[in-house]
Amino acid sequence: MKTRLYILVVLTAALLLVAPAIRIHSEPTVSTKDVMKFKLHHAQRVLEGIATENYDVIAENAKQLKLLSQQADWQIRQTPEYQRFTADFARNAESLLKAASNKNVDTATIAYFQMTVSCTTCHRYLRGEKGVGQKQNEQQTAEVASN
Ligand code: HEC
Repeated sequence: MKTRLYILVVLTAALLLVAPAIRIHSEPTVSTKDVMKFKLHHAQRVLEGIATENYDVIAENAKQLKLLSQQADWQIRQTPEYQRFTADFARNAESLLKAASNKNVDTATIAYFQMTVSCTTCHRYLRGEKGVGQKQNEQQTAEVASN
């Protein structure tokens, strides 16, 4: 009985040690689509952190967002515009990190807003070429037309 408990404790500890390592290890191989999906996930978590004034949650997810923007799979365009939008996005993530470390929910809220603007700015730019959020775009156009 005691041995079983011991084994369980050791296995759990091993899993806790190994789990983050697996995640870090698999990061460079995620596809562009996954990178973009994680981005939405972490952005939503930042909002959750702001709403609950949980600065650790804000900081952790802002850090992940910044890291995502540095991944090779993020760099799907080599244009100066895309580089600039990426730099803006990373700067906003940086502001979120700073706001979290200062425990200032107001500056975090502003940084979050600015980051959201950078999401739409880059997507609008990409839509000009092809793809992203085409449906929303059509919807918006329909809304404008019906007003
Ligand atoms: C510098 C450019 C850039 C910025 C900034 C940016 N995105 Fe994106 N986003 C992309 C690209 C590129 C794609 C993928 C386009 C494609 O698949 O053709 C994408 C796709 C997406 C998708 C669709 C993923 C899927 O399943 O296909 C979501 C959701 C998304 N972005 C959310 C966000 C959010 C939320 C933010 C801000 C927090 C953001 N993006 C900021 C470039 C950007």
